[in-house]
Amino acid sequence: MPVAVLCRDFGVWLDSERKLEVASQFDTAARAYEASATVIPIREYIEAPSIRALCGDVHGKLALDLGCGTGLYTRRLAQWGAKQVIGADIAEGMLTQARVIEAADPLGITYLNRDLTEPCRCDAEYAHLSGQIDLVLAVYVLCYATTVENLEAMCRSAKQDLKPGGVFLAPTLNSGYADESEHPGYYADYYAAYGFGMSAVTPPAQEGATVTLSMWFPDGSGVDPVALDAVWWSQDTYERALRTAGFTSITWHRMEVSPEGVQAFPAPYWDRYLARPHALVVEAR
Ligand SMILES: C[S@@+](CC[C@H](N)C(=O)[O-])C[C@H]1O[C@@H](n2cnc3c(N)ncnc32)[C@H](O)[C@@H]1O
Repeated sequence: MPVAVLCRDFGVWLDSERKLEVASQFDTAARAYEASATVIPIREYIEAPSIRALCGDVHGKLALDLGCGTGLYTRRLAQWGAKQVIGADIAEGMLTQARVIEAADPLGITYLNRDLTEPCRCDAEYAHLSGQIDLVLAVYVLCYATTVENLEAMCRSAKQDLKPGGVFLAPTLNSGYADESEHPGYYADYYAAYGFGMSAVTPPAQEGATVTLSMWFPDGSGVDPVALDAVWWSQDTYERALRTAGFTSITWHRMEVSPEGVQAFPAPYWDRYLARPHALVVEAR
């Protein structure tokens, strides 16, 4: 029996309709998403340096970037010294952008169109990497898991790909982000100074509820605003999913502003964001 069919039988299978929904919203968002890396100051001055610090020294390591999108962190992992980097995503529009960038400036990255609930062993060509990966990164991906089962399957796939002692790092939506239930009529502008907005979880604190993240870009940038539907999960649910997947050590990290960020945007610019960051990083081993 083919390996992929075996994997479906094990239940690591996202139903095709949902898969299409997730893929299609990102297929059309590739340009805006790539632009956000430099235009949204939080991405450049908080997210990137924090993720780099949490990845540690990746020299000589084998890394997998799950939900790699346009390959922003896939490229960074290669630039930071990883020996081999693979990016996987289901949105062909995002992958196309990633491959165009790789073709123009090759870093030796392989991009796979893969549902990230399917670990390496589901793909005959990459089965030999199963249980061999040093670092699995999944930047803003777990918050697109559409069900608890889907969230568990994503975590299980990461765990199966990792070698013993390997690290799973997943920046994801902070379940305690500033939302309308606490700030009536306020959510739309809580993060506005930073170039994005977050809708409220309605009703509050409901597992699996939709949260819309909007990003807009300066006039003249030529990039249209974009709105993406993510999913709200409590920290308990993330932790349960990680433990169900076999991780035994789970740590939540707050991201920090780099010295360059403080210089570029002096106090009190970051205070409001840092009081209620929209994202946290979960590290699991
Ligand atoms: C918010 S984007 C993040 C992209 C990239 N990690 C970054 O930070 O620039 C989330 C990505 O996860 C991908 N994704 C979500 N669910 C997925 C799944 N089940 N399988 C593969 N990719 C998925 C989406 O297609 C999208 O490209």
